[in-house]
Amino acid sequence: MIQGAKLYEGKAKILYATDDPSLVIQYFKDDATAFNAQKRGTIMDKGVCNNRISSALFVYLESRGVPTHFVKQLDDRSMLVKRLEIVPLEVTIRNIVAGGMAKLLGLEEGIVLERAVFEWHYKSDALGDPLINDDHVLAMGWASAEELSIIRAASVKVNEALKAFFLQRQIDLVDFKLEFGRFQRSILLGDEISPDTMRLWEQGTRRKLDKDRFRRDLGSVEEAYQEVLRRVLGDAKQATAASR
Ligand code: CDP
Repeated sequence: MIQGAKLYEGKAKILYATDDPSLVIQYFKDDATAFNAQKRGTIMDKGVCNNRISSALFVYLESRGVPTHFVKQLDDRSMLVKRLEIVPLEVTIRNIVAGGMAKLLGLEEGIVLERAVFEWHYKSDALGDPLINDDHVLAMGWASAEELSIIRAASVKVNEALKAFFLQRQIDLVDFKLEFGRFQRSILLGDEISPDTMRLWEQGTRRKLDKDRFRRDLGSVEEAYQEVLRRVLGDAKQATAASR
């Protein structure tokens, strides 16, 4: 696969063209931003961790029947993915109260929810990704009713699969964000799934193993990303054996 022109550079990733117009290379940087890019920094080897974690999770989700943009991991920092027409929505699913939900409703972080909370956010840095509902999406034509129901069903499936995956690795999946896109008349899960886009708490201790360590200056940021990578990859065989 030949790496072509830079198509887009975001906060944490760069997209490059390839010799196949339907495929692009997603390259993971060490740059980190928070609070709508007001806080900036670098997390050493975050790009390597997030590429490996995302690759493993995309493979796992495909095996659980969730179609994704992932084709293959290319090297330490890049993966080959299908080129999507991104739906301008971010899906957030929450199992435990934290972050935006704690703030919105004046709740303590850590309340375990009776049932998962599903949210749509409009993807707009300028507006700070505002919380919206189905009517906003349909009225603005950001996605069709059919697309919304496909995305919702896939997101619920992702939550069930990832909760079980991390439970086996002694981690609680607190919340996460997903993005979807259109590819040849289907809807695929895109973007990345990493400690940048999920909140992960170690079971028992509730030690944070995600980007909140950077957002809130908790220290040991690199170690947290490495720990998630180790548990996602290293413990795979052990966790499968233990569940038999
Ligand atoms: O990140 P923040 O606390 O402001 O917002 P949230 O709505 O509580 O975030 C829910 C989950 O989505 C967290 O795991 C965030 O890391 C993730 N998220 C993201 O990946 N990208 C965003 N633009 C917003 C949230």
